[in-house]
Amino acid sequence: MKLRWSHAVMYVRDLDKMLRFYCDVLGFEISDRGPVFPGEDAPEVVFLSQSDTDHHQIAFAAVRGDGPSTTLDHIAFRVESFSDVKEMAKRVEASPDATGIDAINHGNAWSVYFNDPEENRVEVFCDSPWAVKQPQIKPWDLSMSEQELRKQTEDEFHSEPDFQPMQDYYDEQRRRHGK
Ligand SMILES: [Fe+2]
Repeated sequence: MKLRWSHAVMYVRDLDKMLRFYCDVLGFEISDRGPVFPGEDAPEVVFLSQSDTDHHQIAFAAVRGDGPSTTLDHIAFRVESFSDVKEMAKRVEASPDATGIDAINHGNAWSVYFNDPEENRVEVFCDSPWAVKQPQIKPWDLSMSEQELRKQTEDEFHSEPDFQPMQDYYDEQRRRHGK
């Protein structure tokens, strides 16, 4: 298994100012945005990318003011396959130093999240077969087979906006970037 660096999610104070800087100066585009969970008080998360094959390379959650003292929510690595995600889940479950293990289905990604020994949040994920508007957060059971998770993903997300085969999403990104 190889871990490929994918993205970081940061807490920010001034969302508009950060977006202007990252888009206008650094050349990112907003790939999605929305409330982290349902409800009026939910903080917004905004996803940025300039890659055809990463839904986001950086994301901002507008919670820093009275929120956590770090700017970083989590770092994320992409692996090749569902079995890699399961293997990583097994490894962290076997480690006495990992805490807070969560299996999260983002619709477009199947993830395991955990805290490292210093409680930095880490995500290891593989692409799911579909793209879907983000953010999406649904638990999945680490005992599930790929087939079961595939079915859960289709059942839970097929009626969400922009649900489509992942390859169509990547093709569209390439077209938008004139490639
Ligand atoms: Fe993530």
